[in-house]
Amino acid sequence: MLRVGIVTISDRASQGVYEDRGGPAIREYLDDVLACEYEVDYRLIADEQPLIEATLIELADQSNCSLIVTTGGTGPALRDVTPEATATVCTKLLPGFGELMRKVSLEKVPTAILSRQTAGIRGRSLMINLPGQPRAIRECLDGVFAAVPYCIELIG
Ligand code: MTE
Repeated sequence: MLRVGIVTISDRASQGVYEDRGGPAIREYLDDVLACEYEVDYRLIADEQPLIEATLIELADQSNCSLIVTTGGTGPALRDVTPEATATVCTKLLPGFGELMRKVSLEKVPTAILSRQTAGIRGRSLMINLPGQPRAIRECLDGVFAAVPYCIELIG
């Protein structure tokens, strides 16, 4: 069965200051678009680069997730390090994902340019970064999801 890693990266949500809305929004999106059944390995972690890297590595190498979707930590703030962690653990980057997600997002919000979101491959896992705004999840994934099943097939 397809395994999907969902990683919410947020200092405040991980401290319980507010509820994680991004993780459930990703799950809702996948329920809508995936024709097959899938299992979710969900993590809620702080914006700490070593922790993000360790989580992504574990989801790819131990949990065998074919797809890992992150939300949060893609912006310009000091503690936003999700793209750096993703680039560190991936062997190949797929910059077109970030480019296209920013393009479609710019049609909705001018601040879309602030996201440094990227995507890449580690082993048999495709990792995709999304911004932390829950509404950004559908806006971004709608733009690129058509390529996701084929990409998973190519690396599997
Ligand atoms: N993209 C979409 N589609 N919708 C959004 O609301 N928010 C932007 C941007 N991209 C947004 C978006 C904002 S305000 C920021 S600061 C950056 O994503 C980075 O967000 P993050 O640091 O929460 O990942």
